[in-house]
Amino acid sequence: MANSITVPALLTLVLCLISSTVSTSVDNHPIRRGGGHMNVIDRCWRRNRLWASRRQRLASCSAGFAGKMRNNIGPGLRWYVVTNPGDDPAQPRPGTLRYGATMIPGKVWITFAHDMQITLRSPLPIKSYTTLDGRGAVVHIARGAGLLLNNVHDVIIHGLHFYGNRAATAGTDGDAIRLVGSRKVWIDHNTLYAGEDGLVDVTRGSTDITVSNNWFHDHNKVMLLGHDDGFLEDRNMRVTVVFNRFGPNCSQRMPRIRHGYAHVANNLYDGWVKYAIGGSMNPKVKSEANLFIAPSNHKKRSPGERRRMGSNGSGSR
Ligand SMILES: *[C@@H]1O[C@H](CO)[C@@H](O)[C@H](O)[C@H]1NC(C)=O
Ligand SMILES: *[C@@H]1O[C@H](CO)[C@@H](O)[C@H](O)[C@H]1NC(C)=O
Repeated sequence: MANSITVPALLTLVLCLISSTVSTSVDNHPIRRGGGHMNVIDRCWRRNRLWASRRQRLASCSAGFAGKMRNNIGPGLRWYVVTNPGDDPAQPRPGTLRYGATMIPGKVWITFAHDMQITLRSPLPIKSYTTLDGRGAVVHIARGAGLLLNNVHDVIIHGLHFYGNRAATAGTDGDAIRLVGSRKVWIDHNTLYAGEDGLVDVTRGSTDITVSNNWFHDHNKVMLLGHDDGFLEDRNMRVTVVFNRFGPNCSQRMPRIRHGYAHVANNLYDGWVKYAIGGSMNPKVKSEANLFIAPSNHKKRSPGERRRMGSNGSGSR
């Protein structure tokens, strides 16, 4: 008897699905129904099928200490499309990423014409009011230097892939994304792995940063918040780390924080080796709703164990 109702039940289900599809398109509303699985950031722009023609919407979707990124849009905004994957730090050519990020005054929103790999020959300094928007192309910033945010503010880095970043020239360091004295920065939906130094380093008075929706994997020292024990100004540092995926094969610093305050929430930890979240120099960490999947092949230290082990952070971790 139970089997005999299968066909009509299926039909009904199919009809329901068709009618819900139809009613959505009849509404002719660009926002799709559902999408309840998306987090608050993605829900804000991603359900809109026309997102590619409403790219600026992204600026209103940030959360956490970066706040809304509305300074990056509005009057005077210049659009710039990267068409050339080349890099010449001495004389940046129009069409390259370096030209767009360094040579255009005021607000600039940078997109990419097609998939490309960009090997930076020296760290790329990003100006204030710059948005890097990798949506619609697969863009790798790879096997060369990374991005440097040096005393800037109002920067969005979205939808890029970083791997194999290294110190490309003497005296620079091998971070994928390095912040020095910068504020109001939003790092969202990037994939970062296998760099030489840190993947995201927030240092020397940087604050009001949100690191969200990124995937970090195959890396040792993932994210450093506060570089110096002696840099007391970092007591004012506030960083939100939310909706990220860490692992597999990440060892430590997810993040490691000195002095300041980190809100670390809703992240997925797919294993760790040394520790997941750690801190020193009296930091404050609010760790909330994170999912830790203990590694099967290592000793299972809980995220807080490092502190109980008595380290005051003077070591290298
Ligand atoms: C883990 O990541 C490191 C880079 O930190 C890499 O060298 C190594 O090959 C990775 N291991 C595996 C098993 O993929
Ligand atoms: C941290 O520990 C090291 C080594 O145990 C010690 O020399 C140093 O004085 C300690 N620093 C603080 C701030 O407690």
